[in-house]
Amino acid sequence: MKAKVAVLISGAGTNMAALLYAAKLPNCPYEIVLVASNNSDAEGLKIAATEGVPVFAKSHVGLERAAHDAIMHEAITQSGATYVVLAGYMRILSTEFVAKWGGRMLNIHPSLLPKYKGLHTHQRAIEAKDPVAGTSVHLVTAELDDGPVLGQIEVAILPGDTANTLADRVKMAEYQLYPKTLADYVARDTNPEYLTAQVRKYAFAQPEADEVLSHGMPCFGIIGGKKFAYVSIDHHGDGNIALLVKISGIEEQAMLIDSDAERYHRPAYFGDGWVGIRLDLGDTDWDHIGDWIAKSWRAVAPKKLTKLVDVAAEF
Ligand code: GAR
Repeated sequence: MKAKVAVLISGAGTNMAALLYAAKLPNCPYEIVLVASNNSDAEGLKIAATEGVPVFAKSHVGLERAAHDAIMHEAITQSGATYVVLAGYMRILSTEFVAKWGGRMLNIHPSLLPKYKGLHTHQRAIEAKDPVAGTSVHLVTAELDDGPVLGQIEVAILPGDTANTLADRVKMAEYQLYPKTLADYVARDTNPEYLTAQVRKYAFAQPEADEVLSHGMPCFGIIGGKKFAYVSIDHHGDGNIALLVKISGIEEQAMLIDSDAERYHRPAYFGDGWVGIRLDLGDTDWDHIGDWIAKSWRAVAPKKLTKLVDVAAEF
């Protein structure tokens, strides 16, 4: 299953085009399901439409920032996208929008971040006599052009470069960087090592946790005690990656499966006291998974440990 990506643009959309053509390569782990813009004249919209990608445009003029963002958010959600990719989207985003897409929104910026946030990046690099300029892909956080950098390419500054000649070469670098960085990022969603590492992080946040392999499954328990979480990776050839945690019993299990049969299942050989939660659907809410793991730990932990946690929570 490919990750569904919405690309937001304001202008030429050449980075969007690079992402779109890379998506046509065999084994690309993402597909573009929407190209949206705040500018209905954006050239990139024509490219996307001609390539058969759904497009959406809504001008921000006369709208409050949060109201415009909410309209964009609605269009993105309708498209089924689980990632938002900003490609020359020249809008400052509201905190609400950033919060909704936290960890799932990428941006490309034409400098070697943390250098030269904001505008006129090439001119500033030339004036500073930097030997290299470049481009960065980063996760979007509330601060402008901030957030963890996922990838960068350096571009040498030539004698006599102007902001325009440098920008042209930086764009060449961008067309390499963005598709590759996005592909690597979305591939984590189905990567067993990444998913297991995420579970491990939450499991080891519980007191006295340890890890063993059980029937080939990474398995987390209380030292010298009971198990509270398993990671099932293609178990019995089902092709799925799932977390198995303790629940109260068959009723809770049935209720969960009834609420979302794709996500929840009855794990074979584990019985009624456990539920399987798919981790590889591409929209995993890790805080929620953390809550499941903490609840499961509590269900098997001896009283002396849960008491300690309760006392600590009071302070
Ligand atoms: C790109 O160079 C991108 O890095 C930059 O706008 C250009 C968009 O070109 N983005 C920013 O400056 C964001 N702060 P494109 O529309 O041809 O892809």
